[in-house]
Amino acid sequence: MKIANTMGIYFSPTEHTREMVQHIAEAFNRNAHLHDLTSYERGNLEYDFTRQDLVVVGAPVYGGRIPALAAERLQQIKGAQTPAIILVSYGNRAYEDALLELKNILEQNQFVIIGAAALIAEHSIVHEVGQDRPDDADWQEIGLSQVEHIPGNVPYRTYNGIPLTPKGDHNCVKCGFCVRECPAGAIPAADPQKTDSKRCISCMRCVTYCPQQARSVNRLLLGMVSHKLRKKCSMRCKNEFFI
Ligand SMILES: Cc1cc2nc3c(=O)[nH]c(=O)nc-3n(C[C@H](O)[C@H](O)[C@H](O)COP(=O)(O)O)c2cc1C
Repeated sequence: MKIANTMGIYFSPTEHTREMVQHIAEAFNRNAHLHDLTSYERGNLEYDFTRQDLVVVGAPVYGGRIPALAAERLQQIKGAQTPAIILVSYGNRAYEDALLELKNILEQNQFVIIGAAALIAEHSIVHEVGQDRPDDADWQEIGLSQVEHIPGNVPYRTYNGIPLTPKGDHNCVKCGFCVRECPAGAIPAADPQKTDSKRCISCMRCVTYCPQQARSVNRLLLGMVSHKLRKKCSMRCKNEFFI
């Protein structure tokens, strides 16, 4: 296959998916272009793909699905029988319908899936789950492999979000970083300590990258989620590749 341009496309609030997409895209082409769909303002991608291009597309798993915002932004990207490698990154619990959902979105938009992977990363809410993944062994495995069967079910499982909405505390200096970086546009510029819980997707981007470490979620709720996940998801899950 002669590749004209390689592009890595990702939605990645806490950057694990971005690292994986970049790693694979650059394995094909050191000069691969990268396009970030995470940002609320910079999210859309207008590009005329051809069948000589290659795209590597990644999204995290939220509740066994890909985030609705990621799906919405990916649906705007049109291929022309363009080969695509797809991946989901998930926090050592389960990826359920997410990879299938990603495959279906891209196929509906005229991409041809030539490789797919479900890869483990540190859980972006409970860091002890899947801690430090991907590790060296994972990176060694992340090579690639036409896709026949991807697990998952249609209709997809329902995901209604989780009740973890980060807020700013007294350390907030209203620098506006989180306002600009929030993928969902859920943090008001005038009062960044607040968060619009109807818009928030609980992705933890603001918590992870706040320069003042002034953002967090309700400790009691986090404790409950943490307890449940640590109990059920402490075994080491394996990366899965589909040919
Ligand atoms: C709101 C939310 C829901 C999540 N749901 C799942 C899940 O269903 N299964 C799982 O294994 N990990 C889940 N995770 C963990 C993420 O899929 C994982 O940490 C992913 O690598 C984050 O990608 P990113 O670093 O590109 O943002 C969830 C994380 C968040 C923030």
